[in-house]
Amino acid sequence: MTRILTGMTPSGIPHIGNYFGMMKQAKELQDNPQNECFYFVSDLHSFTSKRDPELFKTNSEASVLDWLALVVDPDKTIFYRQSDIRAHTEMLWYLSCITPFGLMERAHAFKDKTAKGMEANVGLFTYPILMAADIILYDIDIVPVGKDQAQHVEMARDLAQKFNHHFGDTFVLPESQIKEEVQTIPGLDGAKMSKSYGNTIEIFADEKTMKKKIMSLKTESVEMGQPIDPETCNVMAFHRLFENPNLEKLEADYRAGNIGFGDSKKQLFELVWDYFAEARARREALANDPAEVERILKMGAQKASAIAEAKLELVRSKFGLNAKHLG
Ligand code: TRP
Repeated sequence: MTRILTGMTPSGIPHIGNYFGMMKQAKELQDNPQNECFYFVSDLHSFTSKRDPELFKTNSEASVLDWLALVVDPDKTIFYRQSDIRAHTEMLWYLSCITPFGLMERAHAFKDKTAKGMEANVGLFTYPILMAADIILYDIDIVPVGKDQAQHVEMARDLAQKFNHHFGDTFVLPESQIKEEVQTIPGLDGAKMSKSYGNTIEIFADEKTMKKKIMSLKTESVEMGQPIDPETCNVMAFHRLFENPNLEKLEADYRAGNIGFGDSKKQLFELVWDYFAEARARREALANDPAEVERILKMGAQKASAIAEAKLELVRSKFGLNAKHLG
């Protein structure tokens, strides 16, 4: 068995780039019976930048629904909210006390974020230590993350090693698994799809909005009836991404000048709309059944906290703490 964990900080509406960047891989890992997956919404991490309770609730509820709709099968994966497991924040303290200040000073993410004008609070500075607690409490082998988080996983490994060295074998040393970007997911304008470029297609957009977005995909100007090179066409890139079953015919039509961008985009819309049909139905059903969502989160929290609490007890004992007098 390989233990796999990843967390996602709730930050708004998921788009196609998010899906192919991370979520699809998480789903495939979950479907491999050799893996035991822990996926959680890292809501505590969001306080480093935002402290609006209403927005917090909205974002974290949406994130839970998105992950349940698109990725998580709660019978296969332990799925929970970080804030439901108190052990993470307690572990943060024990780890903080063995973390060299200089190690945190080397974190790229902190430097990048504060250089961009983000408030430099101590929570943002120690963000990697909380992330280390998230990981090592569960004896995790593999942490699939984007390139930007690789250094944080390295730090978690360093801290686990340091702890083991000082207190004897306690933690498994985690390793990151960086998803090689086989292909960059293009946005509406052909540049990388990213919220900060404003070129995204939201997965759960309503039909009209999604259609409008897809019809607005940027293309070269080719006269009607003229051949189009399928290799350089932005719309074609999406047909490939969504595994259009009629790809060969479409490519032949492109080359023969039998199809224009308009028709290609209409076909693409149908393809994308169907691709997410199941997830859309699942999301809607869950959104209308908050009791079921709570049941899933409670089940996840119970399983996760049993594991985390046991590890925390061991850590406490290593420091000479015991709470026997509390009964
Ligand atoms: N920091 C990660 C992000 O912003 C989310 C995260 C929190 C995480 N804790 C984690 C990812 C532990 C992997 C493992 O994307």
